[in-house]
Amino acid sequence: MRPPLKLAVAGLGVVGAETVRLIAEHAKLLQQRCGRPIEVMAVSARERNKDRGLDLGSIHWFDDPVAMAREADAEVICELIGGSDGIAKDACEAAIEVGRHVVTANKALIALHGVGLGRAAEAAGVTLAYEAAVAGGVPVVKALREGLAANCVNRLQGILNGTCNYILTNMRETGRDFAEILAEAQEYGYAEADPSFDIDGIDAAHKLAILTSLTFGCEIDFEAVHIEGIRHIDAQDIRFATELGYKIKLLGITENSECGVQQRVHPALVPLDAPIASVEGVFNGVVAEGNFVGTTMFEGRGAGDGPTASAVVADIVDIARGRQTPTYGVPVEALSPIKVRPMDERVGPYYVRVMVSDKPGVFADIAGALRDSQISIESAVQRGRAEGGVVPVVLTTHETKEAAMRRALELIAALDSVAEPPCMIRIENS
Ligand SMILES: NC(=O)c1ccc[n+]([C@@H]2O[C@H](COP(=O)([O-])OP(=O)(O)OC[C@H]3O[C@@H](n4cnc5c(N)ncnc54)[C@H](OP(=O)(O)O)[C@@H]3O)[C@@H](O)[C@H]2O)c1
Repeated sequence: MRPPLKLAVAGLGVVGAETVRLIAEHAKLLQQRCGRPIEVMAVSARERNKDRGLDLGSIHWFDDPVAMAREADAEVICELIGGSDGIAKDACEAAIEVGRHVVTANKALIALHGVGLGRAAEAAGVTLAYEAAVAGGVPVVKALREGLAANCVNRLQGILNGTCNYILTNMRETGRDFAEILAEAQEYGYAEADPSFDIDGIDAAHKLAILTSLTFGCEIDFEAVHIEGIRHIDAQDIRFATELGYKIKLLGITENSECGVQQRVHPALVPLDAPIASVEGVFNGVVAEGNFVGTTMFEGRGAGDGPTASAVVADIVDIARGRQTPTYGVPVEALSPIKVRPMDERVGPYYVRVMVSDKPGVFADIAGALRDSQISIESAVQRGRAEGGVVPVVLTTHETKEAAMRRALELIAALDSVAEPPCMIRIENS
């Protein structure tokens, strides 16, 4: 029997505590699968006396995770604290510096500092593993890096935030408003007290930036991700989308072409029969198009204690087995600088809802603004009559460039009969 893999766990919250629990519960199974036991020999968190439902009796306690990363005689440090900077980053850097492998679930850290950390890890001959940072329990990092290693993937799209998907799914199923469902999600623990990271698309963008690097072999460039959240999605948009044969999802899309890499997170109308449309509730899903394998889809729970701990422990198992894979599918030195394709160059159809005064000639004005921007209308719906009031006009367009669409939206917003800025949602048919 090989000697145990000694593990130090920094952070004993939702993910950290469950990781320690999983390792204890599956000790025998993991020993068989790794060819050696996994031994949690040190832990660190803020409050030593908090009841975490764990027996930490024989495990060395550190108040300071950075000191633990340096001093504990561990082969692997698990960083499960969170935050892109500060103590989480310091702990990872310290561990790498003294030659310990690092496993983290921290998407913000990898999205912002993943290249530097990966470079340091490779120079030190240790692993930086982050399966749990993208789509929680769905093994999509491994799938892209290993399972699809033989393919060129030029486009990937995903539902990367369970909170947003829960809200949008519930809005469609119940017809209720965004604010009401968000409050309910907070009550059930599907949304944070401060939900902005999730509903403003930042969490999904962190994950997308990591997936882009893995998929295209380029450096991680979080700043280059175009980000829109779901706050502006109205119950009537969900209803109109359904009538038109679509669902609204918050998508992360990354595409690689001769013009560069375009990364974007925004709500999108997806056809009801598209594979990604079947990903509902708190689930995450990723669809990748490989040139030899064709379409592949990965789906499962993107957050929560069990799914995230499952991914963390999978990375630990790899290390225990002695398996080392280049951090982002290729060594960090081989990652190419990212050539950004601006959002203005996105080409596709659009959904536009305009709230207008209910009087003759309004539709012609809107159609004129689109015509003047060289955009052709695919379908138009005008519902209800409100004498002297405001009614929605909903249009879908044929394929056009984002820059033209933005021009048209400015013209439409400036019309006297238009009551509020138009709501535009991109349509993603592939
Ligand atoms: N929760 C999920 O579903 C999920 C899913 C995927 C990825 N992740 C990622 O996993 C990581 C952890 O998330 P989480 O939900 O488990 O967070 P959490 O429940 O807030 O736990 C954070 C832990 O870090 C400890 N901590 C905070 N500051 C510390 C400090 N200065 N020194 C020592 N310990 C400190 C806390 O200690 P105390 O307990 O003593 O306060 C706590 O145990 C994050 O990067 C997150 O993005 C989470």
